[in-house]
Amino acid sequence: MSLLRRTFCPLPLLFHTLYSLKPSFLPKPLNPKKPASFPSASFSASPTPTPPQTLTPIPNPPSPPLLWVPRTVLCGELSADDVGKRVTLCGWVALHRVHGGLTFLNLRDHSGSVQVTTLPDSFPEAHSAVNDLRLEYVVAVEGRVRSRPADSVNQKMKTGEIEIAAENVQVLNAVRAKLPFLVTTAEDAKDLMKEEIRLRYRCLDLRRPQMQSNIMLRHKVVKLMRRYLEDVHDFVEIETPILSRSTPEGARDYLVPSRVQPGTFYALPQSPQLFKQMLMVSGFDKYYQIARCFRDEDLRADRQPEFTQLDMELAFTPLEDMLKLNEDLIRKVFLEIKGVDLPNPFPRLTYAEAISRYGSDRPDIRFDLELKDVSDIFSDSTFRVFADTLGSGGIIKVLCVPSGAKRYSNTALKKGDIYNQAIKSGAKGLPFLKVLDDGGIEGIPALTSSLDQTKIEQFLSRCSAKPGDLILFAVGHQTSVNKTLDRLRVFVAHELDLIDDSRHSILWVTDFPMFEWNDLEQRFEALHHPFTAPNPEDINDLSSARAIAYDMVYNGVEIGGGSLRIYKREVQQKVLEIVGISPEEAEAKFGYLLEALDMGAPPHGGIAYGLDRLVMLLAGASSIRDVIAFPKTTTAQCALTRSPSEVDPQQLQDLSLQTR
Ligand code: AMO
Repeated sequence: MSLLRRTFCPLPLLFHTLYSLKPSFLPKPLNPKKPASFPSASFSASPTPTPPQTLTPIPNPPSPPLLWVPRTVLCGELSADDVGKRVTLCGWVALHRVHGGLTFLNLRDHSGSVQVTTLPDSFPEAHSAVNDLRLEYVVAVEGRVRSRPADSVNQKMKTGEIEIAAENVQVLNAVRAKLPFLVTTAEDAKDLMKEEIRLRYRCLDLRRPQMQSNIMLRHKVVKLMRRYLEDVHDFVEIETPILSRSTPEGARDYLVPSRVQPGTFYALPQSPQLFKQMLMVSGFDKYYQIARCFRDEDLRADRQPEFTQLDMELAFTPLEDMLKLNEDLIRKVFLEIKGVDLPNPFPRLTYAEAISRYGSDRPDIRFDLELKDVSDIFSDSTFRVFADTLGSGGIIKVLCVPSGAKRYSNTALKKGDIYNQAIKSGAKGLPFLKVLDDGGIEGIPALTSSLDQTKIEQFLSRCSAKPGDLILFAVGHQTSVNKTLDRLRVFVAHELDLIDDSRHSILWVTDFPMFEWNDLEQRFEALHHPFTAPNPEDINDLSSARAIAYDMVYNGVEIGGGSLRIYKREVQQKVLEIVGISPEEAEAKFGYLLEALDMGAPPHGGIAYGLDRLVMLLAGASSIRDVIAFPKTTTAQCALTRSPSEVDPQQLQDLSLQTR
């Protein structure tokens, strides 16, 4: 779980910035001078809006009548077994070329594509109709399946052994504007196409085979999950409200103003958390939902403001059974979708171990590069930076990079990319040492001279360092040290190609602390959410208790997270108090939950997977947007519909709202 994101904010509902309630409830015009701007999907930190795009019309395209031609077969389903059959196919023109007096085209539908050719002597009309086609025209082709000559068999095409000799060709619809990009653009050329354009013309982008396959993969994953949960484990899918109260998951809420209750708002769910818990109280033993969630938070390549969870909750299910059921589910998904056999059982790391060894609560363990705490070795160091750090309660940790001494020049370590990574993570610098071929060390003189031979040996042995290795230091408060080394660990692994792509790193991270201290706000925050049960062994000191929470981590990405829940009012109230929610506030905000806990709540727990993230990883996509049909940009805009948009002043008046 991301520490920042998961923290629970007990502040009053955070209002969306666009609207603010004014006492008068009167409408004000929406910034009338502001020019209409096309939302940008550029993924830099502060994308600049680009102007509206309009397509150039093509003069005099054909205008066929409305026609629904019955097709007899799908393009991608034909094979050598069909030779001689008369077929009718419908689809899009994917390739169009004239060669040796014949015209060829590839006809594409959702199942694949097939080559169509013409017989100018026997079917001159079909030949001339094919000649007039353009890419992406929608056509119906009637013809006979025949074998391709041996020298023109296309091994790369599923239907490459055959072709259709066209006898009758009908245009069902023309393309009336110059297309912004070719559907046939190869996947590796996709990067050249601005994502902004792809999202703006999403229906064309989704026609591309890669996007079709991503969306179909998503469908297969969901289908498989449903079948497994419903047929093997008797889960019941139950829908929970979208218009509701805030469900605290640590992000800002999207708010929806109520028309009939002026000045009040619904919050879109950040997750169905409290509803699923109440379903357990109602006696629905195993609930699941493909649930849409909404979080107004800073976006990244694996985050969307509107995303989908596979959400589940189970009553009377102890931790081990919960983890096993979920391992079986994910193992099945990986086996059936990717043919990958994940370990049984999944490895587990406690939160404390994960942080200590990898500096992260979602470590990628496809590569080793473990961190080592060397604070004790430097306890009486004369090196000022280290002495000051330890003196003020900080720690010193290192990352040993095998054969890194030559790979990273001193200049790179002082001002190159690797140095910048350290600085971006919040470090003030990047102290380093190099292990020389003779086993000696080289680095900042004040640092090297602070170690005698015994300490050097102790240090190198702690780091498991060999001649030629590079040792990177991070010093300071535990949290910032781990953050820096986590970032450097992943950076170095990519740079040095240490990640074996054929390996799959799946694991549970367990035993998260219930709370962490928020220095800025001087209060405790729930690390998961405040409905997570504390470990009964730690019940006497809740503020330092471990939670019965678990995250599933795949290749360094948190794909799911859940917990066993508090099912007793008195424990729930105590936890809410620790995060700064008074009994009165708790009653006002979560009274319905507390009441439910009083009505015979069973022990229960659950988990939610980020479906988009999981599918992104299964598809090998680099962005979550490539597995969502209509995603939002990093500025939370829909490039296609241009939402969010200004609204009619009357609508604002109806809602008793005015804009700033
Ligand atoms: P959590 O907040 O960890 O837990 O969310 C569960 C999973 O949802 C995914 N996820 C996201 N995916 C895309 N975009 C986002 N903005 C985003 N935020 C989260 C992650 C994450 O692991 N109610 C609890 C679950 C529970 O306790 O049962 C919850 O929502 O993959």
